[in-house]
Amino acid sequence: MIFCARKLTSSARLYKIRQRADAAGLVFCHSEPVPENDRSAVERKEGMNVLTTRPRGTSDILPEEVWKWRRVETVLNETAALYGYSEIRLPVFEHTELFQRGIGDATDVVEKEMYTFMDRGGKKSLTLRPEGTAGAARAYLEHKLTSWPKPVKLYYMGSMFRYDRPQAGRYREFHQFGVENLGLTDPAVDAETVALAYDICRRLGLRNLKIRLNSVGCPQCRGAYREKLRAFLRPVLGELCETCRNRFERNPMRILDCKNDACRALTQGAPAVGESLCEDCASHFQEVRNHLDRMGAPYELDPSLVRGLDYYTRTAFEIETADLGAQSSVCGGGRYDHLIKDLGGPETPGMGFALGLERLILIMEAQNLFVQPAGGCDVFVAALGLRAAYEASALIQELRGMGLAAERDYQAKGLKSQMKAADRLGAKVVLILGEDELSRGEIVYRRMDESAQETLSVEAALGRLEEVKGAAEK
Ligand code: HAM
Repeated sequence: MIFCARKLTSSARLYKIRQRADAAGLVFCHSEPVPENDRSAVERKEGMNVLTTRPRGTSDILPEEVWKWRRVETVLNETAALYGYSEIRLPVFEHTELFQRGIGDATDVVEKEMYTFMDRGGKKSLTLRPEGTAGAARAYLEHKLTSWPKPVKLYYMGSMFRYDRPQAGRYREFHQFGVENLGLTDPAVDAETVALAYDICRRLGLRNLKIRLNSVGCPQCRGAYREKLRAFLRPVLGELCETCRNRFERNPMRILDCKNDACRALTQGAPAVGESLCEDCASHFQEVRNHLDRMGAPYELDPSLVRGLDYYTRTAFEIETADLGAQSSVCGGGRYDHLIKDLGGPETPGMGFALGLERLILIMEAQNLFVQPAGGCDVFVAALGLRAAYEASALIQELRGMGLAAERDYQAKGLKSQMKAADRLGAKVVLILGEDELSRGEIVYRRMDESAQETLSVEAALGRLEEVKGAAEK
């Protein structure tokens, strides 16, 4: 990360430093907001208006899309409850050290992708969360959930932040649904967690999914594996990218998830971690597979699957689809038996996963799985004339008080245009308030599905609407 204090740097230079940092894949932070003249520099360079354009890699979820998110969130909340998970809501930023320690400082996420900044006051370094597991583990310790009956089952949903090169399915702000099952090493927990991830996808209707399953072993078997890997990589060390060369001694397994094409080619045929397990890890993995076989969850073994975060031990898995292009992984997770101890807590095993919500929604769109719900308007109140408009204000409040979604035309235009508005909103019933009817205490009640209408007393119309509401709720 590069941190620039504005006092030490002119604003013109700030922009140039930021451009260089971006090009080198470094996160750039500065102590004050970008001043006006830098704004115009960004605009000149990138040809966009920063006041009316969102930051790269972020999304606005417009009302016409939000219903899809709600549908997915409903299934996620319901399925989590079926499996005994309780929701936890965690801060969007944490102390930077939590991620350095938890995720590992030789990982891409920590080395290249974190949004890190100094808190005002300049003493504390904070980071927008790039994932949820470290925060959940921190909260588990901070709130002494260690004393809760085991396993402690937590789930969360929310924004995560990674400074990555944006493309379809890969963003700088994205959303995850994650679960963490804390306290037990039993292979049945691993199998159930994989099955939960798969069950969620199934409940959402997703097809053509592949579960890739592996064990990445424990610190004991990984020691021997790292040596094998170094022996394989040593002859090509000079050809690897600089980041990978730096990782060779510190953490050679991370070389296997380098995104650089040359490094990928050079690691082809590297020894697979899943083929270098110690006896205990191999038998744990076999048990996980026995449970999954019995549960009927389809998986493929992939001995070379390594996850990009350092906390994983033993079971690791990803769920992939061919419908996402380059970003094929919709879900990733695994066991992390030492994370909580590494954060200073007692030995507490854990197992979990996170699903990327943008990716889920992209697949569901590609597979035509969304059915748009009917419009949400129960009653539209059309008013003809000023006195009727006053009555409409009172009536519409009464209707909402009855629990009906009610809409009106605030400008009280002609009846034709009000009926068009009612149609556009998908109103089931239109109540027409005219001067003549009002003087008789009556109202026109129009059922939109049958294009039929009748004149009723206001009480009778409200009674009829109670029935409509009751029928809709059944
Ligand atoms: P992860 O594999 O880094 O794992 O992320 C999980 C999922 O988040 C990915 O499969 C993907 O769907 C989504 N995702 C990741 N990065 C992006 C991005 N830049 N844009 C859009 N979606 C993205 C974790 O985060 C672990 N904390 C999972 C876990 C929980 N392991 C144990 N417990």
